[in-house]
Amino acid sequence: MSNIMIVGATRGIGLELTKQYAEEGNSVIACARDTGSASLLDELASGSDNITIEQLDVSNPSSIEEASNKIGDTAIDTVIIVAGAVGGMPENQSIDNIDIEEWHRTLDTNTIGPLLVAKAFKDNLVASGNGNLMILSSQLGASTWPMGGMYIYSTTKAAVGKAGKILSLDWAEEPITVSIMHPGWVQTDMGGPTAEITAEESASGIRNVINGLTKEDSGNFYKWNGEIHPW
Ligand SMILES: NC(=O)c1ccc[n+]([C@@H]2O[C@H](COP(=O)([O-])OP(=O)(O)OC[C@H]3O[C@@H](n4cnc5c(N)ncnc54)[C@H](OP(=O)(O)O)[C@@H]3O)[C@@H](O)[C@H]2O)c1
Repeated sequence: MSNIMIVGATRGIGLELTKQYAEEGNSVIACARDTGSASLLDELASGSDNITIEQLDVSNPSSIEEASNKIGDTAIDTVIIVAGAVGGMPENQSIDNIDIEEWHRTLDTNTIGPLLVAKAFKDNLVASGNGNLMILSSQLGASTWPMGGMYIYSTTKAAVGKAGKILSLDWAEEPITVSIMHPGWVQTDMGGPTAEITAEESASGIRNVINGLTKEDSGNFYKWNGEIHPW
C-alpha cells in the first residue's frame, strides 16, 4: 500500500480521491486550507484509520512550509494537487470586465501554489523511489479548447500546465513522474449539478491513470479517462 497526499481534500474531486485511496488501504494525508471548516473531510476521516488531516493553504507559502516541516521526511508515493479556484463569475472575467485583484488571487491558488507545493514535497517523492506528482488543470487551460471568456480561470490553468511540463524537464533525472490532468466536467461545487460525470467517476479515472504511469510518461497532459489531452 502507498502513501498518498491529496492537496485540496475537503470537497469535490479531492474528497472523493481521499475516500477511494483510503478505502483501498492506502495511507492518505488529506490537506485542507481551513481545517476548522472541513466537515465532510472530518466525517470521512472519523470513519477511517487511513486518513490524516493536515492544514495546507496553497495560496500561502508559509502554510506550505509549515505543512512540509510537519510531515518531515516521510516518503510519499503520490502527491495530487487538486486545489483550485474558478476565479469568480464568468461576467467578471470577460474581456470587457476583468476583476484584476481576483486574477492575482487565482494565480496564487491555481498556478504559483501548486508549483510551491511541488517544490516543498519533492524530497518526499524522491524518497519513495518512484514518486508521482499530478496537478489538476482543466481543458479550459488548453490552447486547443474553443471557448472564449473565462480569462482568469483559463490562463491560470494554462500556466500551471506549462509549469508542470517544465517541472517534468527539470526533474528528468529524478525518480518522479509529473503529470497534468483534466479531470472531466465533474458534478461538484465547481462543475455544477449538470456536469457530465460524477466525482466518483472522475476520481476512479484519475487513480487508473496514475496506476498506469511510468517515468516515460512524465510531462503528459491527460484526461480523466486516460486519453492524452491536446495542449
Ligand atoms: N469540476 C469540474 O468540472 C472541473 C473541470 C476541470 C478542472 N477542474 C479542476 O479540478 C480541481 C478540483 O475541482 P472540484 O470540482 O473538486 O472543485 P471544488 O468542488 O470547487 O473544490 C475545490 C477544492 O479546492 C480547495 N481549495 C481551494 N483553494 C484552496 C487553497 N488555497 N488551498 C487549499 N485548498 C484549496 C477547496 O477547499 P475549500 O473547501 O477550503 O474551499 C476544495 O477542497 C480544481 O483544480 C478544478 O479547477 C474541475
